Order: sequence, then C-alpha cells, then structure tokens
Amino acid sequence: MPHARDGNLRIHYRDTGADATPIVLIHGHPFNSSAWGPQEDALGKSLRLVLPDLMGFGESEGPEQRAYYSVDTFAGNVLAVMDAAGIDKAIIGGLSLGGYVTFALWRLARTRIAGLVLADTKAEADNDDARATRTAQQQRIEREGISTLADEMLAGPLLSDATRADKPDVVERARRAMDNPAAGWVGALQAMKERPDSTPNLSSIDVPTLIVVGEHDAITPPALARLMHEQIAGSRLAVIPAAGHLSNLEAPSHFSGAVAEFVSEAAGGI
Ligand code: MLT
Repeated sequence: MPHARDGNLRIHYRDTGADATPIVLIHGHPFNSSAWGPQEDALGKSLRLVLPDLMGFGESEGPEQRAYYSVDTFAGNVLAVMDAAGIDKAIIGGLSLGGYVTFALWRLARTRIAGLVLADTKAEADNDDARATRTAQQQRIEREGISTLADEMLAGPLLSDATRADKPDVVERARRAMDNPAAGWVGALQAMKERPDSTPNLSSIDVPTLIVVGEHDAITPPALARLMHEQIAGSRLAVIPAAGHLSNLEAPSHFSGAVAEFVSEAAGGI
C-alpha cells in the first residue's frame, strides 16, 4: 500500500492510479479512507482517486498527544500524500472534518487546488456548546475507549432515519470505518474544537466548487450548505435525497454521480 512521510509519521493512502484527473478525497471524523469505498468502486477507473488516512486514522501513524492535531497539521498530511503521489495540482474534496481540512488547504496551498468538493461540511467554527461536547467526548474516550461512543453516534445523528432502518449494510460499513485508534479520535476532536472560522475565506474561492449535502444531514444541515453556496461564486449545490450526514455512503450512486458530472462539466479541463 502506498504511503507518504510527513515528518516522522507514515501516512497511508489509497490511489486508484488511473491516468486521469486526480481527485483527493479526505474522510470525516471518526472515519478512515475506507469510508470512500463506494466512490473508489464507482469512480476509480475514470478518475484518479487519492484517499489519504489522516494521521491517527486507518493505517496511518498518529501522535499520541492531542496538541499535535489541528486542521493545519491534517492539511500537511494531505500535501505530503500529494507529493508522494507526484501530484502537483488536484481537485480536493472532503466530507465534514475532511471539508474543514480542505478549507485549511485552501488557506495554505491554494495553488495546488484545481477544484473543490465540499461534502456535508460547514465553514463556521465550533461554538462554546460544541467545544464542551467535544471535550466531554475526549474525556469519555480516555476513560472507556471508542466502542460505546461509536455505537451511540451511529444510533444518533450521523445517518438518516431511512438509512438506519433500511440499510444495515451501510450501518455496518460505517461502523467498520470508525474502528480507529483512540488517539486519532481525541486528536481530531481537538483539531475540530480549535479550527478557525472559514467563512471569511469563502469569497476568495475562485476554482470550480461542488457542494454536496444529505437532505437529512443533522450535523452540517442543508441550510449551512446553502450559505456556502451563496458565498462561493459559481458553485454548484447537490442535495442528496434521503441521505443524512454520511451522504457518500448512504446514497453512493447519487453522490458519485454528482462528483462525476462536476468533474466532467465544471472541472473538465484539469
Ligand atoms: C465529521 O463527520 O467529520 C464530524 O461529524 C464533523 C463534526 O463533528 O463537526
């Protein structure tokens, strides 16, 4: 399996290797790159999909100390992967936390970005309540590990009611992709707590941009996707029917179709 080095960390990534438009997709919290499995299957031959495991997730190494985790250090992981894969410029996309990291990449390295896919994410920073919830989750993980919290999250707002009721295979796949080291969970919670507000960056985005959101996303709801759509000139918005926060897993054909259409029409010349 290919990997990059970011400082002393080994960062794993999946690479479909096709001789085609490169698109880097960054997973959400607390998942790993296996959460992009349906897109790897649907798009991996027509696009070059590069799917990093952020540090502390999947097969990537991660620091034990939460202070090392930030959206900027995660962005550094992605740049290290692009370097290792020989990719100078790519479409960059991310779901949720992956979107927060995509905004950090826009601030740090926009010349390497040919287009954006912002999926089930938002530009706003955490408010005080959200930070307190994340702190309580960090304490809980340190006391009892990740398992019960992962089960509760899946039973709660991550998925739409329809997915939970009718698609046990999706619930199972999501649960497997949550099986990551406790240090990665705690670190990502720290990074999300401390991430800056990206709202002021939206008007500077001048590359083709696709915004995707599950119709029933309860974590980063369609109203926030519409706000990004209004502020990013020329952006497209795809609302995925019946899906919740994990729209790429819950409605994979619809999600992959929206990405394929975006790449061929809006970002076709990349
Ligand atoms: C994610 O899916 O990455 C997280 O739910 C995002 C968040 O908690 O803000």
